[in-house]
Amino acid sequence: MTAADSLLSLVGGTPLVRLGRTAPEAEVHAKLEYLNPGGSVKDRAALAMVLDAEESGALPPGGTIVEGTSGNTGLGLAQVAAARGYSSLFVLPDKTAVEKLDALRAYGAEIVLTPAGLPREHPDHVVAYAARLAKETDGGWLADQYGNPANPDVHRRTTGPEIWEATAGRVTHLVSTIGTGGTITGTGEYLREVSGGRVQVVGADPETSLFSGGDGSPFAVEAAGHYWHPQTVDVGYPEVYRPDVVDRVLPIGDRESILTARALARTEGLLVGGSSGTAAAAALRVAREAGPDAVVVAILPDSGRAYLSKYHSEQWLRRQGFLDDDRPGTLASLVSTVVSVPVGTSVGEARMVLESSGHSALPVVLAGRSDRFPPAAGEVLALLLPDDLRGSPDAAVPVPAAPPVGIGTGETAAEALARLDPGVSVVHLVRDARLAGVVSVGALSRL
Ligand SMILES: Cc1ncc(COP(=O)(O)O)c(C=O)c1O
Repeated sequence: MTAADSLLSLVGGTPLVRLGRTAPEAEVHAKLEYLNPGGSVKDRAALAMVLDAEESGALPPGGTIVEGTSGNTGLGLAQVAAARGYSSLFVLPDKTAVEKLDALRAYGAEIVLTPAGLPREHPDHVVAYAARLAKETDGGWLADQYGNPANPDVHRRTTGPEIWEATAGRVTHLVSTIGTGGTITGTGEYLREVSGGRVQVVGADPETSLFSGGDGSPFAVEAAGHYWHPQTVDVGYPEVYRPDVVDRVLPIGDRESILTARALARTEGLLVGGSSGTAAAAALRVAREAGPDAVVVAILPDSGRAYLSKYHSEQWLRRQGFLDDDRPGTLASLVSTVVSVPVGTSVGEARMVLESSGHSALPVVLAGRSDRFPPAAGEVLALLLPDDLRGSPDAAVPVPAAPPVGIGTGETAAEALARLDPGVSVVHLVRDARLAGVVSVGALSRL
């Protein structure tokens, strides 16, 4: 052992560990990016972007690092700022979990909140707001992880060579999630080059994300994938992402991602986040298809510590309907065909749909684009009751003001009833964080 001069010299150099219990017949390795000092793969990009800006003079001594991020890039940048004597200023959506805000503040960062759910073109969207603040702040510099070439470049110089060395050049497949695309682009470029094109580069993507050909509607796994806000016009890929480096992108459903993350903790002792579950699930699929000679490496971006109240909480999993098969008496049997009408449907039409469906309520969804529960900001998902359909048949269906109430397929009727407010008469049934039925409270109490 030697003593490090700076915490920052400990960024990178993360180990590979074989998933021997999960895939005993195959050779699947996980690269443990949560062992970086700031807890994620983004330590690499954060440090590289700052060093690059110091060299070019874009970030003056004692200046302020600015970025719009609610996640790991913020933590990585806040860490570098503290260790190298800069101020840091982050713009975050106002819905960001208080633990994340506190973690950034713990490093001494300043936080500015902006409304969540704004389309990318809005001047107060996190990215646009951060760019403006960087310009207005004396000595301010915008890190710009989505457009900064230092982001993919650090993976070309470090992550790629580390994988090549750790597998003694035997790696056949790289599996990585895609957020900014920095990790997969840089690591993939290096491994393709050094192997003479032999290494296959596979993206692992939330099922509805745009990278794997989804419709861009919301997904539960955080920090990976490309979501399309309904009012966003420009849905282009991030500047640093190079799709030509990627051989194929596998869509992985939220349930598979989340339950894989949960299984990694229980069978391998690896407590990782949701996007790590996405990467591991894709890697296991690749290994099954490629056969016994494949050497598959999956990059696991961060730790499960930040998600203890979500992916690693049985209560959350049951209420979102991700865990519904392991107990008697859960509401999974109530999953039914969901009929819904888009916002703007006429009352007359909605009434006909309601009558022919046999349901006592109709979900209203925005243009039918997403049935995710709870709806993302900017999307409407509400229950329409018969009383709401009394008006003129030509009028548009009213959008009820009250937020919809959901119960998970992993709950029992007694558990669900115990947490419902007395005034609620009809609820959404939720499976895989998506609408899976409509149930009256009366029917629930008779179960
Ligand atoms: C948890 C997690 N997973 C995946 C990613 C995607 O990595 P990249 O931005 O390099 O594509 C990120 C990026 O912030 C992340 O924080």
